[in-house]
Formats: sequence, structure tokens, C-alpha cells
Amino acid sequence: MRPSRAAQTTAMTTDKATAINPDPRISMGHDALDAQSAAPSADPLPATQIHQMLQQQWGDALLQRLHVIGRIAANLGTPAYLVGGCVRDFLQNHPVPDIDLAIEGDVRAVAEACSAELSGVQCTYHAHFGTAILQYPDGFQLDLARCRIEHYPAPAALPEVQPAAIQTDLIRRDFTINAMAISLDPEKFGDFLDPYGGRADLQRRLLRVLHPHSFLDDPTRILRGLRFAVRFQLQLEANTRGLLEEALTQDIFARLSGARLWRELKYLLELSDLPAALEELGAWQLWPLLRPTPLEVESLLAKIRRGQQEIRWLHCHFPDEKLCDTAVLLTILWRDIPWAEAEKRLHYWPVADGRYILNDLHRLSKIPAALAAASHPSAVAQLWESLSLPGILALLAEYPESATITESGRYYLLKQRGLTSPLNGKDLQAMGLAPGPQLGTVLRRLHDARLDGAIKDKETARQWLIRQGILPSTQP
Ligand code: CTP
Repeated sequence: MRPSRAAQTTAMTTDKATAINPDPRISMGHDALDAQSAAPSADPLPATQIHQMLQQQWGDALLQRLHVIGRIAANLGTPAYLVGGCVRDFLQNHPVPDIDLAIEGDVRAVAEACSAELSGVQCTYHAHFGTAILQYPDGFQLDLARCRIEHYPAPAALPEVQPAAIQTDLIRRDFTINAMAISLDPEKFGDFLDPYGGRADLQRRLLRVLHPHSFLDDPTRILRGLRFAVRFQLQLEANTRGLLEEALTQDIFARLSGARLWRELKYLLELSDLPAALEELGAWQLWPLLRPTPLEVESLLAKIRRGQQEIRWLHCHFPDEKLCDTAVLLTILWRDIPWAEAEKRLHYWPVADGRYILNDLHRLSKIPAALAAASHPSAVAQLWESLSLPGILALLAEYPESATITESGRYYLLKQRGLTSPLNGKDLQAMGLAPGPQLGTVLRRLHDARLDGAIKDKETARQWLIRQGILPSTQP
């Protein structure tokens, strides 16, 4: 399998930022970045080399699929390109989780033609977004989107979109490193489109926006950029840093909905190198998004690292347990801020388990002293029970040196949490106790007796109920 036009094409790179805007329709008052800030050209990357790299990194089977789609799209007169994050990751020889294709034309027609021609391939078309998904029988998936131009009617508003050519589609994007494409057209399979110097920026480890209005159009790009900076060890390019500062002086995040902001923050909190991300958050002056005051970073990072260890510990011991990892991290991040500040954020952000976080933040500071004073295992268990699972892990992360907290917390999670009373409500009613709130109290006392080792099975529980005067001694 060879590209049909071997070695004839060279990378479409430019060292002129003035070439950043190839389509007059997208000027929209945005000036392209000035020439000084443009990335220099990287070495040419011929189609043959791209082809070889694709073969090595992605394998023949996937390459074959891309050739087929490229042919089907070309037959319909609507060229297809690999685009965005998958090109960026491919150039760095990183694993590529999702493959995105841009189609210069009718996405639906291409997706349906693929589905008709390729046995077992299902297509789903989303008319509203102009996107389609191709699902292969082995579970492999390709995302198709129509090349488009975007217009932001107001800062931070959702964009209005119109069909466009690939060059225009590339400039609507967030960063140069995400504005590269690879042609799948049979005539020029492997042609590399890099009009804004994304590859050179990757090589110089620079993060650069494509136009000065980028962060104002879409402030989520600031947090996306921070993620890319952490994932790929990139520095903010000088002009881009200036644009970030300008966007922050305009309080641009205030215009973003809580849902959009939280989505990006959640991705950030899910980064495996979260301590690095939080350090970067400080360097980018973005602490106020997460908490009102910057925290003494070293102590916070140590707690966050321990929080991540606690999360791993829990997943390891209870692989089926549903745990909201971000709730653990937010609890750690918010332990020392006024409760109202946490509440304000959770009012806008759709955080799963948000109300448990608020409850935990109320209680956490009282728990260490109460644990030290608790005299029975049941009293200790009740204190742990008053916290949600994320709250428990946050407390364990906060006091690694305290044997009282660490040992009782682990014991609660491993042994006490799963214990139930040997008798349930039905058993008690069968023994003659009336239904009602007092039945709940008896069940709770039975549970405590079990925790304290006073009972272990139905019979010892029955005898205990008699000794407590809850059941008559004549009980058979
Ligand atoms: N994009 C953008 N502005 C945004 C979101 C996305 O310009 N606010 C563009 C970028 O070109 C990006 C592409 O859409 O590469 C796909 O976005 P997405 O799938 O969210 O991210 P990826 O770049 O693929 O990165 P990741 O590995 O995090 O999925």
C-alpha cells in the first residue's frame, strides 16, 4: 500500500503569520497574530513519510480503513482529512484515543456511503451538529465533522457555524498545535496541512493561539490550553500570554455558563499530573476559578497527591465502588475556604455529589477531635458514617501522620462499612415489635451492638434484645 503521489508533496507550512487568515470571510474584525509571533517552518514532512509513520504507529488495518474512506469521500467530491488532536498526537508518536475526520462537504453523504459500502459499519448522523459517527463491527469508531467556519456573536457565546473549506476550518481552531490536517484523498494521501506552524510549535514546545480574539470568543480555550501545556510540557508563547492576561482583565470567565466552566475544570482535575496542572493554574493566574485565594502550593500539592493515592487505594480495594474522584479533590481544595465560597461555586457547577461535598465541609473539622474522644467502635463508625466516601478519603489525605485517623478510617472502610445488623425490620416484627420509628431505633442499636462485638448472629442478637428489655424474656 503506497501513497499514489509519492514524495511529490511537501508540507504546507508557512513562517508568515500574515498567512494565518486565508479566507476573507473569517476576518470578522480579528487581526491575525503579527509576524514576530509566528512559528518558523519545521522541516518539510513529505506524504511518503507521513504514510510510513501512519503505518508504523497505527498499523496496516487502520491505514487501510483511512484509504477506503478517503476514496469514498473523494468519489463524492468531498475530500476527507485527519484533523485536530489526532494529528497533534500522531506527530508526537503518542497514543491517539479518538480519530477525527474533517469532510469538505456533505458529511452525511460520506458517512452513509461508507456504511453502504463497508460491511457491518453503522453510521449515526447528527444533523444539528453536522457530524457523524462511523462504528465498525470490532468497536472501532471514527468521528466525522463538516469543515466549517465559526462566528461568535458575543464573547463566550456559542458559535454560529457555516460550511467552509479545510483551510478555513483550521483557522477557526484553538491553537496552532490543533490546526493541522492530513489529506486522505487518494490523489494526495498523506499531504500534510500545517498553515500556522503547529508542528514547529510542537517542536519548540510552544502553545500559541491562532488569532487575538481566540480566548475572548471561547474562554474554555484557556483551560484547554492549560491542559495541553501540562500534557505536552508546552510554554505559553509570549503574545498568547499577553492575550490570556487581557482576557482575564476582562473577567471573561464570568460570561461562561457554570456547566461549561465546570466541564473544563473537571477535565483538569482528572489529569494524571494534577499537581503540575495546579502549579500551572497558579502561573496562569487562574486560582480564583477554583478557590478565592491561592493556597500555599506546596502543602496543597502534597495533600492532592495523597488524595490521589487514597482514590487509587479505594479503587484497588473496592473496584466496583462508584466514587466521584473529583469530589475528593474538590473537598481537599476547599477545606480551608469559607463554606459560602464553596457553596457559591457548587450553585453554578453541576458537580455530581455536590451537596455531599458541602455537608462534608461542614463536618470535617470536627471529626479528628471527636474520633480521638470516641470510646466505642460504634461511636467511631458513626463519625465516619457522617461523611460521604469522598469526604472520608479527603480526611485520610489530610492527616497521614495521625494513626487514630488513618487506622480507624481504613478499618471503617474495610470492615465496619459493610457490616449489617443480623436482624432486619421484618425479623423484629415477626418477634412482635410494632412497626414505626422505634423499630428504626432498635435496628440502629442492633447495628451498633454488632460493631461493638456484642452480637454476631441472629441468636446472639435475640438474646441481646432480651437483655436490653426490648423483647420479653419469655420470647421463645
Ligand atoms: N477545538 C477548538 N476550540 C475548542 C474545542 C475544540 O478549536 N474550544 C478544536 C481543536 O482543533 C481540537 C478539536 O476541535 O483539536 C477537537 O477537540 P477535542 O476533541 O475537544 O480535543 P482534542 O484536540 O482532540 O484533544 P483531546 O486529546 O483532549 O481530546
